[in-house]
Amino acid sequence: MAATIGVIGLGKLGLPVAVTLAMRGHKVLGYDKNPDRMSVSALSPHERGIDGSTALADAADASLPLRFAPLKDLLVEVDCVFVLVETPHQPAYEGTTPLPESRADFSYDALTSVLVDIARHAPRPMEIGVMSTVLPGTVRARVLPLVGGHDIVYCPQFVAMGTVAADLCAPEFTLMGCEGTPAPTVESVLRGLGGAAPVLVMDYESAELAKMVYNTYISAKVTIANTVQRMAHEVGADAAAVYQVIAAADRRILGPAYVGPGMGDGGPCHPRDNIALSWLARGVGDGSDLFTAVMRSRQAYVEWLGDLFVDLAGGRPLVLLGTAFKPGTDIEAGSSSVLMATQLRLAGRQVRVVPGPADLGPLEAEPAAYFIGNPEKEFVDHDFPPGSVVVDPWHRVADRPDVAVHRVGEGPRQVARR
Ligand SMILES: NC(=O)c1ccc[n+]([C@@H]2O[C@H](COP(=O)([O-])OP(=O)(O)OC[C@H]3O[C@@H](n4cnc5c(N)ncnc54)[C@H](O)[C@@H]3O)[C@@H](O)[C@H]2O)c1
Repeated sequence: MAATIGVIGLGKLGLPVAVTLAMRGHKVLGYDKNPDRMSVSALSPHERGIDGSTALADAADASLPLRFAPLKDLLVEVDCVFVLVETPHQPAYEGTTPLPESRADFSYDALTSVLVDIARHAPRPMEIGVMSTVLPGTVRARVLPLVGGHDIVYCPQFVAMGTVAADLCAPEFTLMGCEGTPAPTVESVLRGLGGAAPVLVMDYESAELAKMVYNTYISAKVTIANTVQRMAHEVGADAAAVYQVIAAADRRILGPAYVGPGMGDGGPCHPRDNIALSWLARGVGDGSDLFTAVMRSRQAYVEWLGDLFVDLAGGRPLVLLGTAFKPGTDIEAGSSSVLMATQLRLAGRQVRVVPGPADLGPLEAEPAAYFIGNPEKEFVDHDFPPGSVVVDPWHRVADRPDVAVHRVGEGPRQVARR
């Protein structure tokens, strides 16, 4: 259903969004604090239309239901607003200069200032869709306190410059972060744009993290491709042939496999191959050594899980269930669970290790702290003594009476919904 929509912040993203919403039949009012942006003539000539080929500016003629108005007037008329102001990083963090040692959050000055203005001038409770990119935790910490009484949806867009209109109208998915259910007009506008695309509704923090991780996943893919190219050059391989292999691996590499909760990567091939390639990369002078970084991150993750296990155990005896690198095997080579046992022992902890289901033995009578190193069915369904703690990085152990089950990384709001 057509809505009256305010688009606030008409920059590189906001102006094409405003034009696209109008092309999809909504009545759109645009506002930017910079008057130069309050005109379709400010559209980049590089932005293409919904068809992905003709210029978006060509479609933005006078018949389009798009007007520009001061913020106060806009707020009187609209059913909802989308906010697309900048959330910039300092120039040192843009990636055009050598990486500094320091790190910083984005600047939220423009976002907080515009939300204060909206809250001040809105004549009634507003539905506000925030499309600006923010770090996880920002909406709850910085946005909600400014807009009490207004309904916030965090709805970042996954679009590329040049194809904003086409990407908006054919998204991979529609993502909305909210408390409870999304504000109805914002939801209906976004669902209308997305057509048959899956609609993913979640808490603010998960949506914020998903937006950031989407981009960094792409960075990781590009960086692996770059590393292949550099190594191919150095060792006399053909980078294009290597890419051909990876691009054909649509089950394990390009599909959703491995994107889920669990232990660190493991097995007789993966850690060993990373470590061997890091040696080769050092030999050919790859100063960044991506493979060492991958191994260090894996090790740090397993160490963090071990620390969490000890914390949550609260002094109970530690029992590690499963040392094979995956279910259905007894192979321990490269196992992250074995790495955890090693790390705990090196840290002076006593830990009882139960390698496989056959080693479970009789039930313990006293409460203990269990870590699911390998999610074999017998471990997941184990009858843990009352008063025990179970730490499950795989999200396989169900809640049960008198046992504290911690599925690592399961959000507090997800826990509350159970
Ligand atoms: N450009 C992209 O490809 C892209 C893609 C996805 C997400 N994003 C995110 O969208 C947001 C906007 O990005 P952009 O590239 O369009 O930024 P931009 O700097 O091009 O545009 C921001 C606009 O907001 C306006 N603005 C600032 N404060 C305002 C206020 N108080 N009231 C009204 N207008 C105000 C500015 O004048 C500017 O025109 C950022 O958070 C960015 O990370 C951008």
